[in-house]
Amino acid sequence: NDLEKGTYPYYMLKEIDEQPAVMRKILQHYQGEQQQLEIDSAITETMLASDRIYIVACGTSYHAGWVGKQLLESLTHIPTEVHLSSEFGYNTPLLTENPFFIFLTQSGETADSRQVLVKVNELNHPTLTITNVAGSTLSREAQFTLLLHAGPEIAVASTKAYTAQIAVLAVLADVVGKAKGLAQNFDLVHELALVATGMETIIDEKERLEQLATEYLSVSRNAFYIGRGMDYYVAMEAALKLKEISYVQTEGFAAGELKHGTIALIEEGTPVMAIITEESIAGHTRGNVQEVKSRGAHSMIIAMEDVAEEEDQFILPQVHSLLTPLISVIPTQLLSYYTSLHRGNDVDKPRNLAKSVTVE
Ligand code: G6P
Repeated sequence: NDLEKGTYPYYMLKEIDEQPAVMRKILQHYQGEQQQLEIDSAITETMLASDRIYIVACGTSYHAGWVGKQLLESLTHIPTEVHLSSEFGYNTPLLTENPFFIFLTQSGETADSRQVLVKVNELNHPTLTITNVAGSTLSREAQFTLLLHAGPEIAVASTKAYTAQIAVLAVLADVVGKAKGLAQNFDLVHELALVATGMETIIDEKERLEQLATEYLSVSRNAFYIGRGMDYYVAMEAALKLKEISYVQTEGFAAGELKHGTIALIEEGTPVMAIITEESIAGHTRGNVQEVKSRGAHSMIIAMEDVAEEEDQFILPQVHSLLTPLISVIPTQLLSYYTSLHRGNDVDKPRNLAKSVTVE
């Protein structure tokens, strides 16, 4: 089995590298004869008839769900909620008349998500599982399935499944939105192709990211990722990735919320990584970086080309504003990878974690 790693020291690095190819594979799989994106029309029709989408997931998939909410609401105008599977039973949301459920799960086997699916099936609401594993439990038990086509993900820390989930959610949102007569000028095929190229550019800058990992994260016991809007969703995922494999206690925070309490934790040298991809939020997030810097934080700015400044530590290739997470997450994956590697951890098999959790 280890042969599949080829020359890679760890599956995680291989899977990070595979992401541009996964983007292209997703385009291929969801393109029809005229190159336009297509999904099973029964899914489109059911979603068009629904008045609210409920996304249910755990871990990294939950974080992809937040980006999915943004995509679905922007492109389809259907209100969308995101829920943690393990909380759904206790904090059951008030359901609308025609809800549509999306289960996001790389493995298709997560017990927490499955128990929600069983409950939703009892209520006879339409369900779609978006998964990497054809024939998995959640795929078999849901009414519809869309596959991620990401290839097997072996490393416990999920990378390519996260970006694949976002890309497939974008395809879904685009197809449903267009069926509704919305977003006619949004060319997702073109935009995702740009994303794939952008991912490659970042992957080619591994050495720079290894350097940044050394400079910022080699000794620290805690760290923060901050951002607003889409960048906040990525900050949550970036923090989880760093926690999982490097054991650095990391929080992903809404940049503007820091000052309402958590800023008390900033000390001399605390690493704070800010993600900035959009014009409308750039000024405010930069302001928050100044606030933490003046309290001693060691700040790193990861900014997208159009809003970047020369002194920023890492610049991201420009992509469409709805797809920025697909690009901004890549350097954070590599920062986690190198931090874990430098600390001598088993990158692929972090302590206390399992790839797929089949107990509630
Ligand atoms: C486990 C894994 C996480 C993953 C989560 C959800 O906790 O360690 O990496 O995000 O399960 O898994 P799923 O297969 O449902 O996406």
